[in-house]
Amino acid sequence: MINRYTVIGQPIAHSLSPIIHQFFGELTQRRIQYTRTEGTAETFERIVLDWQTSGGRGCNVTLPFKEMAASVCDRLSENAARSGAVNTIHMHRDGNRVGHNTDGVGLIADLNTQMASGIQSKRVLLIGAGGAARGVVGPLLDAHPSALHIVNRTAERADALACLFDNLGQVSASGYEALIDIEAFDVIINATSLSLQGQLPPLPDSSIAAGAFAYDMMYGTGDTVFMSWARRQGCEVSNGFGMLLEQAAEAFLIWEGVRPKMRIAAPRLKALLR
Ligand code: ATR
Repeated sequence: MINRYTVIGQPIAHSLSPIIHQFFGELTQRRIQYTRTEGTAETFERIVLDWQTSGGRGCNVTLPFKEMAASVCDRLSENAARSGAVNTIHMHRDGNRVGHNTDGVGLIADLNTQMASGIQSKRVLLIGAGGAARGVVGPLLDAHPSALHIVNRTAERADALACLFDNLGQVSASGYEALIDIEAFDVIINATSLSLQGQLPPLPDSSIAAGAFAYDMMYGTGDTVFMSWARRQGCEVSNGFGMLLEQAAEAFLIWEGVRPKMRIAAPRLKALLR
């Protein structure tokens, strides 16, 4: 029997998820089929229900439907419930749709691979408070930074996000102008959509500690503008490609009960997708 999965988004034509999951299937010797499905706000719920009725075992959900996805699930994991955003739906045999968010676990896994001591006891700045930021706040706090600050153009949105998680750890929020009075950060994570438009978040140079690590959740060929800027400030940098692979591996684990060995999968997928 082949287990069928799909990724739903808009646009979706360029999603790398089918290639990644087919590769995971081969690596773990699971028979899976993974497709792309274009949705709209009007058709999203119907697509999920029809996928389940036709025997689909799960789906990934990407922009702009992660929040909508939470409302089509019967149950949610703790992080998905708190963040209100779902990127992985598991269709259980008893008919329940269970929603998870693997973005944050994927980000932490990638940061742990790239940074010798991870983010524990580090001062972390999360830039943005939209869909990409929501799913990662809980797992970032679970990794015990000494402080997590969320900065956003719309400060109220950053405040609201910080409030959702403030019993999990030291989390604060502000607009960009307040950063000038806040101590520098060791890890700076760009979760805005600005790199897509070739723009930079307006961070003061004083926000960056010496030897800081800068991570852009976006990825593409070559450095994003944010990565180029951070390199000029003396930071080590990374794009979000590793996070893409790790969040997919976490979804695969939820569906298939086995986590692909990323030491083997990551270099081969990086070469394949380059
Ligand atoms: P998504 O859910 O797809 O992440 P979003 O909810 O529009 O999209 O969030 C995108 C993020 O990029 C937000 O943090 C947004 O800031 P606002 O909440 O103030 O809108 C940020 N962003 C987008 N364009 C921006 C710009 N020109 N300057 C600064 N921040 C921007």
